[in-house]
Amino acid sequence: MAGRPRVFVARVIPEDGLRAVVEACDARVWEDELPPPREELLRAIEGCDGVLTLLTDRVDDEFLDRAGPQLRVVSNYAVGFDNVDVAACTRRGVAVGNTPGVLTDTTADLAWTLLMAAARRVPEGDRYVRGGRWKTWGPMLLLGPDVHGATLGIVGFGRIGQAVARRAMGFGMTILYHDVARLPSEIEGPLGAAFVPLDELLGRADFVSLHVNLTPETRHLMNAERLGWMKPSAVLVNTSRGPVVDPKSLYEALRDGVIFAAALDVTDPEPIPTDDPLLTLDNCLVVPHIASASRGTRGKMAAMAAANLLAGVRGVRLPTPVNPEVYEGR
Ligand code: DGY
Repeated sequence: MAGRPRVFVARVIPEDGLRAVVEACDARVWEDELPPPREELLRAIEGCDGVLTLLTDRVDDEFLDRAGPQLRVVSNYAVGFDNVDVAACTRRGVAVGNTPGVLTDTTADLAWTLLMAAARRVPEGDRYVRGGRWKTWGPMLLLGPDVHGATLGIVGFGRIGQAVARRAMGFGMTILYHDVARLPSEIEGPLGAAFVPLDELLGRADFVSLHVNLTPETRHLMNAERLGWMKPSAVLVNTSRGPVVDPKSLYEALRDGVIFAAALDVTDPEPIPTDDPLLTLDNCLVVPHIASASRGTRGKMAAMAAANLLAGVRGVRLPTPVNPEVYEGR
């Protein structure tokens, strides 16, 4: 590579990372609030050595073809990377980076915010007050389930799932989890978490919080059948990826009282259309994919994504590669 590496940064990210990229590279930064339209993105990455992508940018064979054979790194500004065809990148020797770890606690905080807000009907209460309907204290007004002492079922017991469990300990909850395999007792033990089959978890939990990656196996994991296994009093929280829940089945389950409430940070599609039936329901709380949106965490994600990008364009191993196999045989 002659001169400074050429990179495209697909959105303005916090200075904590952007500055380093702009100083070290011949960088073009997409400055709009909305993601680059596909054709603009494909044009912008032509001839780049590295691209900093967001979860809204699809990285596939077409992307890699248009970027060209000199492309060395795709640094995704997210811990999730379901927008990236990792196998296609690996085949072409392109390193892929993500931002694990730094957003774990912030995401767990939001899962808890949603859990409590849905249980205690906070958004409904706020609408009730603003709508001028608050006339008196009412013994039956906006009743919901207790959180303390309840049973929490965590589906996907990785870093974020475990951080959600740690918070549940303070609420004296019984913690059940399900994952592809049982975790070692060093992890389970201190959290007092019990591994159970998914059907048992869904049948016993008062709160179900989803923390799986989006894969072909987890797409529509929460379908009509599995929603039907939940208690009618249960609350479903999703801070993972929208397509993990089948939206039509969720709508029907919430409408028909199959479950009590849902709280979603992620939807399918994203953004959720304003005329989506889910938005007509009082027992469905939706926020716009903000689980990692604290100033501190977004800064750390930016620094990490920049470090991955810069390592990649310099031909050095990424600090947090998603496809370490890309280095095999080098
Ligand atoms: C991620 O990192 O995968 C989140 O969805 C956005 O922070």
